[in-house]
Amino acid sequence: VGHIDDVQELRKTKPTIIPDRFVRDMAERPTLAPAMPCSSDIPTINFSKLSKGSKDELESESSQLAAACENWGFFQVINHGIDLSLLESIEKVTKDFFMLPLEEKKKYAMAPGTVQGYGQAFVLSEDQKLDWCNMFALGVEPNFIRNPMLWPTEPEKFSGTVEVYSKEVRKLCQNLLKYIAMGLGLKGDVFEKMFGETVQAIRMNYYPPCSRPDLVLGLSPHSDGSALTVLQQGKDTSVGLQILKDDRWVPVKPIPNALIINIGDTIEVLTNGKYKSVEHRAVTHKEKDRLSIVTFYAPSYEIELGPMEELVDENNPCKYRRYNHGEYSKHYVTNKLQGKKTLEFAK
Ligand code: SIN
Ligand code: FE2
Repeated sequence: VGHIDDVQELRKTKPTIIPDRFVRDMAERPTLAPAMPCSSDIPTINFSKLSKGSKDELESESSQLAAACENWGFFQVINHGIDLSLLESIEKVTKDFFMLPLEEKKKYAMAPGTVQGYGQAFVLSEDQKLDWCNMFALGVEPNFIRNPMLWPTEPEKFSGTVEVYSKEVRKLCQNLLKYIAMGLGLKGDVFEKMFGETVQAIRMNYYPPCSRPDLVLGLSPHSDGSALTVLQQGKDTSVGLQILKDDRWVPVKPIPNALIINIGDTIEVLTNGKYKSVEHRAVTHKEKDRLSIVTFYAPSYEIELGPMEELVDENNPCKYRRYNHGEYSKHYVTNKLQGKKTLEFAK
């Protein structure tokens, strides 16, 4: 982590001129005009209606979930069953971590060419633009993807909280995948059986305020390489996530205590494009900082993926080739974030 590339340190100097490395080319700059009047909010799914609703509630919520996956690729989940105190704890340890002195955080610095630890992932060349963001990422499950050296001893409760939080989010992902499968007319356990020993990672993003949010991006446009992604946005922080919907960037306004879910590349491929892994990005704010805690849930590296035969017919010809998911993951983490470019690997 070069000093100048650490966005929090840079922000401390209150720069009036943004260093070139962060200034986006014209075409990439975010327009900060208010959201289009025609834009609507991403759908909301009431998880308790899926998990413990009546038969009718389950049916109607399932079809809303299916519509959300097909038309948006993004939705918010309310009544997700994860204790609010746990959401608060993970937010607190995340914030406390980012507020540590740089020297302390550097102990967990992301090694070049890797995606775990503190720093900026997906930076591959000297002339690539940088995101206005500090990241801290950890592999969580299975055990062999963990790098224990990168699990911080401070804040004291950090590792334990990540552990408990990850277990809860994992259950939510497993359940959502079950309802997603059922909504596709498939057996509820189809993904669980196919995925093998699933891979789970967590990435915390801290976006300091930026004096020129019109020139920079908090996070470059990308789709996620996971099956499902679960995003928790910090309370009282600015709105920053935007998704590309009908060629427009639509801001996502988080419902307090809800979790934001999105479909990743794996599900797009498996459903032969019926459910899309939607491109998204983050923008910054002039005065407010922002925190997000992101969990990626993905199949085992060993499995072969391709469109499921139930979703391929004369009207829906096969759009993707079969490939090994481990190779896809490697491809994903060794390329820069650039819209849906990584998915071309599957074509
Ligand atoms: C992400 O896409 O990983 C995070 C975006 C956000 O911070 O909202
Ligand atoms: Fe993402």
